[in-house]
Amino acid sequence: MEIQGEDDYFVKNTPPKNIEEVEKKTKEFLNFQIEKDRRVVLVTSGGTTVPLENQTVRFVDNFSAGTRGSASVEYFIEQGYAVIFLYRQHSLRPYSRHYSHSKNCFLDMLDIDNDNIIVNNKYNSFMKIILEKYKKAKAENLLLEIDFFTVKDYFFYLNKITKILSTIEEKAMYYLAAAVSDFFIPPERMVEHKIQSRAGGLNLSLDQVPKFLKPLVSEWAPKGLIVSFKLETDPDLLISKARQALDRYGHQIVIGNMLLTRKRVVHFITKDAERKIEMSDEELKNGMEIETKIISELKIKHDNWIEQSKN
Ligand code: PMT
Repeated sequence: MEIQGEDDYFVKNTPPKNIEEVEKKTKEFLNFQIEKDRRVVLVTSGGTTVPLENQTVRFVDNFSAGTRGSASVEYFIEQGYAVIFLYRQHSLRPYSRHYSHSKNCFLDMLDIDNDNIIVNNKYNSFMKIILEKYKKAKAENLLLEIDFFTVKDYFFYLNKITKILSTIEEKAMYYLAAAVSDFFIPPERMVEHKIQSRAGGLNLSLDQVPKFLKPLVSEWAPKGLIVSFKLETDPDLLISKARQALDRYGHQIVIGNMLLTRKRVVHFITKDAERKIEMSDEELKNGMEIETKIISELKIKHDNWIEQSKN
């Protein structure tokens, strides 16, 4: 498999059409937050798709629904952060996630009263709490949402946003929870039209995507607090792979999680320490989410990161 260099990737691939608009919005959002003296976090979320055709009918995808990313945004805002949310189109979004989940259809929360639509009493107080938080985040301009679909667009946006955000140096945090594809079809090998089935079975050959964590840490945002995630399915690999990522990229925190237990347990791996964060049955039963603990812990780490930079 051929591995392209990072710079090469941005030359050989075409940027998304609205990249300049995203750049403008990000700069305006950041300038507003600088005026307010707020910290800003970039949260990436959801899976990335790898198209098989230019006029895309089929693509390779992964499991991520964006639960981790969208939930984390709400807790970051509670901790006083402004958030840039880079999320996979149609994956979960902060606040609306409480109503859009497949198990929680918002239509079931509504009733018809003569000519009016009203909220069913059973859901009223819950809906009000979420709606108030959402309105506050909007009114105070605490959330900028940017969506992507393909892994290519994700990397173009990541590059652009990260470089803009790096101007606030240590006050920025990068929370990379998206499940990013490691493989793609380079533009020169991509067919234009729908792959036909009459030829029988389909053999795919994918190239490796460069690990963009490397330039992100060393060049794009060298002063920010960078938190990456490591997902594994084999428990014997998790901690060693997380530590390997930390050594390889030289950033500050890797959060390790297992596919099947990711809502209950995560491992914080830093240069000198390792800490397990876990939810009890009681906490889960009460509707508490592990992201509340993750973000509280990260806020403290970010305080220390900013403090250290002053010395
Ligand atoms: O959305 P949910 O259903 O709630 O699931 C949440 C989650 C399990 C997706 C999330 O918690 C998580 O673990 N996200 C990272 C998954 C992942 O991509 O792991 P990885 O081991 O393949 O990659 C490690 C890191 O390298 C990631 O931070 C990724 O952004 C980065 N990467 C990956 C590929 C690539 N080409 N370049 C990268 O920089």
